[in-house]
Formats: sequence, C-alpha cells, structure tokens
Amino acid sequence: MNCPSDWPEPIVRVQSLSETGNTMIPNRYIKPPPERPSFNTGSDSLLNIPVIDLSGLASGDPTIQQATRDEISVACREWGFFQVVNHGIRHDLVDGARETWREFFHQPMEMKQDYANAPKTYEGYGSRLGVQKGAILDWSDYFFLHYLPSNLKNHNKWPSHPPFLRDVVEEYSQEIVRLGKVLLEVFSINLGLEESYLQKAFGGDDIGACLRVNFYPKCPQPDLTLGLSPHSDPGGMTFLLPDEHVSGLQVRKGGEWITVKPVRHAIIVNIADQIQVLTNAIYKSVEHRVIVNPNKERVSLAYFFNPKSDVLIEPATKLVTSKTPALYQPMTFDEYRLFIRTKGPQGKSQVDSLKSSK
Ligand code: OGA
Ligand code: NI
Repeated sequence: MNCPSDWPEPIVRVQSLSETGNTMIPNRYIKPPPERPSFNTGSDSLLNIPVIDLSGLASGDPTIQQATRDEISVACREWGFFQVVNHGIRHDLVDGARETWREFFHQPMEMKQDYANAPKTYEGYGSRLGVQKGAILDWSDYFFLHYLPSNLKNHNKWPSHPPFLRDVVEEYSQEIVRLGKVLLEVFSINLGLEESYLQKAFGGDDIGACLRVNFYPKCPQPDLTLGLSPHSDPGGMTFLLPDEHVSGLQVRKGGEWITVKPVRHAIIVNIADQIQVLTNAIYKSVEHRVIVNPNKERVSLAYFFNPKSDVLIEPATKLVTSKTPALYQPMTFDEYRLFIRTKGPQGKSQVDSLKSSK
C-alpha cells in the first residue's frame, strides 16, 4: 500500500468556510442520515466516563495505590476511556498549551498555509484525513507534529508563531510522555504482567509520541455533519486535552453515544488499537467521534502515545491461553498506520480486520 504524495482534491480550510458566515454547509460535509448526530438527547446527560484521581499512585500508601490501580483497571475494562485529575501536569501548562494553539489557529491564513501538509507524513496544517477522492469530509482543521522518536522531531515543522508555542509544546510533551510511562506500568501490573512489560513491548525508550491539535470551527448546521467521524485511535493510547469551554467528544458505549463532560484541567485517556492487540482484547480501543457547535469553536489536543514503529505488536504470551487464543497476528505499527492513513476514520473496522483466522 502506498500513500500518494498529494491530496486528491484541492484543500479547503474549514475555518475559512466557517468564516464566510454562510448558513448552509457545502454538500461535501453532509453525512448520510444514519451517521448524523442526534441532538434530541437529554437521556445521555447522566452518564460520564470515569474520573480518576491519580494522586493516589504517588501517595506512598500501598492501600491507596492499589485502590487507584483498581479504579484504572475497571475503567480500562469497562470503558476504555477515562479522565485523570491530579495527573501532575501544572494547570497553567494545561491551559497554556490549549490557548497557545487557539492563538495559532486565529492567525491569518497565510501564516498557517506555510505549514500546509501532505498525506505522506501528515505533518503540518491539514484539513482532511484519508485520501479517497470524493470522500465526505469532517468539519475540522488540524495541526499534526512529531515529538518522539527524536529523529522525527523537527522544530522547523512546528509553528514559529505564537513565539512561545514551541517551548510550550516541548514542556507539555515531556509531561505527557512521563504520564504515558506511568500508565503503561499501571496497566502492566493490572494485567498481571511484569511491570515493565508494556513499556518494553512499546520499544523501551524508543516509543512514538505525536500531537494532533484539532480545530473545530463554528458550524451553521451541526446536525448534518461531524467534527470528526467515528474512529478508534490506531496507536497505543491517547491523551486528549479537551476544550473546557465547549463539549463535543462522544464515546460509544453499547449502542449509545455518550457526550464526555470534561472536568476542569483533566486529561482524557483512551485505550487505542495497539493496546487492544497487546492485551488480546482484555482492554479494547473504543470508538469515538466529535460533534460540532453552531456558536462556539472548539480546540482539542490529541497526544498519541505509540509503540516504536518497527517492533512487532502481538498479544502478550501470558494473556494467550487455550481458552483465550491469540486474536491478532503480529504486525508493526508502521504497517498498521499506513493502512489507516490511506482510508481515514473508519470506526473500528481496522483493528477488527486484524483478527486472525486461526
Ligand atoms: C482524535 C480525537 C477528539 C476530540 O484526534 O483522534 O478523537 O475531542 N479527538 O477532538
Ligand atoms: Ni481519536
């Protein structure tokens, strides 16, 4: 499978469309009726993904540590999605990261166009995922960059304005990677594996970390489109910093879409496809999508914490038994990602298609 070097059609910035003030969105963004969001909810207002206080992990008290790990275990098995508070990332850094990126998107279009991206690596300023000609598009723009491995990190590909953006992204990235390592250890212990098992399976210190900042402009017809179509994240796990002013993320639970109500300064964690494979589906990546809003833009930072791109990812031997045979065949994350990038968001069809026929 090869990625074409350019997009199949000229790129239109959703932000520019939004700024025209037109009351109707172009057909390209109109989803078929069964895929449209329903706004007659009210029924979903009570459920929220679990909120977990991580300060217990560092408390030094084994009982509290165990209770915190247990909460994480339940959240991983039952939801695959949770919010963490007291995660150790300074609140001013959390707010600073989001608001710096908001400033980036509010700059004149010419400045952003300098970073226009291509499907080969997706790095830079983009307005679509997937390269299928004629595809129905999502109502969002984004900026994508690499932090790890360090040979992929290139500050020149990160915005130079606002001037402090690169420093903020550096600091925020370090903190996310620290948090990622903590959670891999907790997951390993919770699964009865050696505590460094998942970290090693991810490639030791050579993990991947990349950031997609999503910008969802105001949308005059939010009931006809989506900010981001249903998908599961392809990597290991994702740390999402949501917009605290406006909700939009929905998680599929059973047959329902649950709207996540972000807690202030919390970071949303979700299991992604590679952890589903490594745990032989004891933890599952969960489908999610984003709805848009007629009066408010939304900015979110999705930090993807991924295995090293060329290590084989396969179910942990300890989790494969005669009653629970291996569900997936080994595949590197590189191979998997290429497969995703050509198609764009497709629910959970990709990880499901990995299922072995054995
Ligand atoms: C993503 C994602 C959710 C959001 O970028 O993969 O799911 O709330 N984002 O922006
Ligand atoms: Ni996602």
